[in-house]
Amino acid sequence: MPITVVRTKAELRSEIARLVDEHAGRRGEGAASLGLVATMGALHNGHRMLAEAAVAGNDVVVASVFVNPLQFGDPNDLARYPRTLDADAALLESVGVDLVFAPSVEEMYPGGDPLVRVTAGPLGEKWEGASRPGHFDGVLTVVSKLFHLASPGPVAGRPTAFRAYFGQKDAQQLAIVRRMVKDLDFAVEVVGVPIVRAEDGLALSSRNQFLGEEDREAALVLSRALRLMDERASAHEPLVPDDAVALIESQPGVGLDYFEVVDPDTLEPLAFNCRETPFTGEALAIVAARVGDVRLIDNMPLKAN
Ligand code: PAF
Repeated sequence: MPITVVRTKAELRSEIARLVDEHAGRRGEGAASLGLVATMGALHNGHRMLAEAAVAGNDVVVASVFVNPLQFGDPNDLARYPRTLDADAALLESVGVDLVFAPSVEEMYPGGDPLVRVTAGPLGEKWEGASRPGHFDGVLTVVSKLFHLASPGPVAGRPTAFRAYFGQKDAQQLAIVRRMVKDLDFAVEVVGVPIVRAEDGLALSSRNQFLGEEDREAALVLSRALRLMDERASAHEPLVPDDAVALIESQPGVGLDYFEVVDPDTLEPLAFNCRETPFTGEALAIVAARVGDVRLIDNMPLKAN
């Protein structure tokens, strides 16, 4: 079936109701599941994996394509952000997404910038939030609106499963969205989809297209540093980031912002000595750096074998 692109909230709601009813009827069980993939467009293979995971796990899949002004600090960044709806819709259609919601800013925020917003609190002020004040409040505000708008509601009296897919590449965003769902009782299951890497180890990102050849080579130090911590975790060696920091700082053309080993839920630093106490929980190594003119982030879950 060719993909349907809708522009208004009313069309989104009626198309979701139609698709969910249709699937529930087809299955004869009076229930269906719905997956939501929220994006800002300019889709790449990382988004493709999100959409594929949503299609594999649900009867109906909706993707949103909306460049959310609330999460941009710099108006130039917002203006420059690529808008490629036709190509995005083609990619989403090729993986089997049913519906695209591509609203205008006026449709999403009819009263202008919302006065009432969802705030990320202290979780949104550290790491990425430290250099982008208000960014995560903007993310949570639009994500909570999308959760309300796409929520399928019950079909024939039965609850309909509702899942939302987010990339682990934006680990802080994922942690904050999970926390919002828990703290504010949203009826949605948040599914984290692993990072997609190029063969050389670079995490896929829409920003990679702005890296020159030399910068791209230099950027590989980030995944090397993360792997170093992963090897330490596997070898039951202390998870202290000093060597990873030194490795990144020795790479010309790379300006380190932060490298830390953190708790994946609270994002609090966790310098753990695996030699003294067995490392049994989970940790996350996170990094952000400027490579040439481009700011890159990456992360790697750490588990002791
Ligand atoms: O990750 C993104 O692309 C955005 O932050 C999101 C979740 C679509 C909200 O605008």
